[in-house]
Amino acid sequence: MFRMRLERSETLKTQGRRARHLRRVIGALALIFVPVFVAVPIGVMATPESIRLPQAPDQEEPGALFSHWTHGQYGCFACHPGIFPQRKMTFTHDEMDKGLYCGTCHNGQSAFAPDDTDCETCHRE
Ligand code: HEC
Ligand code: HEC
Ligand code: HEC
Repeated sequence: MFRMRLERSETLKTQGRRARHLRRVIGALALIFVPVFVAVPIGVMATPESIRLPQAPDQEEPGALFSHWTHGQYGCFACHPGIFPQRKMTFTHDEMDKGLYCGTCHNGQSAFAPDDTDCETCHRE
């Protein structure tokens, strides 16, 4: 009789310990995942579908139009922050011909080269 009660209180104690352990694990997981669930949608919502790159001072063509949508096969880190810093910037065809900026991929191998392509493909209204 006495022993049985002792055993029961032992089981209750272990259960209490398990429940506390579980709560701690869930708490830790929430600490890790809640910020990710909040941050990822904010990052995606803040991503404009297309971006007009600033024109060079004496450029007649409209500033090149870049589309995140048509580059959706890449993860963000393919371009940010290594190739593009996520702020308005401009650069020249000479730099692209050297394999910088858009020329990292638009080099005639991974993707069409700027100089062999209709200007309007990029410089469109
Ligand atoms: C693959 C996309 C792409 C194509 C195709 C392209 N450009 Fe550009 N061009 C750019 C980007 C990006 C810039 C930098 C942002 C800006 O100034 O519009 C640029 C910049 C320029 C500039 C100013 C800087 C510089 O290098 O003098 C001129 C002028 C220009 N382009 C003319 C042309 C002409 C003319 C053609 C067609 C023969 C052409 N571009 C085709 C993407 C392109
Ligand atoms: C193929 C290259 C490429 C990929 C992949 C890419 N971006 Fe961009 N992103 C650009 C370019 C080019 C710009 C304009 C130049 C700049 O702001 O650095 C830009 C600009 C931005 C900006 C600044 C917009 C503004 O108004 O100035 C944000 C935010 C951004 N990208 C978020 C993202 C996110 C999030 C992803 C992944 C889902 C992503 N980008 C994937 C090329 C890319
Ligand atoms: C990480 C590699 C990468 C970078 C950086 C990149 N592109 Fe592209 N882009 C591609 C690929 C791949 C395609 C599909 C090419 C094809 O169909 O030949 C493409 C397609 C395009 C197209 C045709 C689809 C459309 O949107 O109409 C345009 C225009 C274009 N890129 C412009 C740019 C400009 C402007 C930049 C720089 C601001 C740039 N890209 C930077 C890889 C890249």
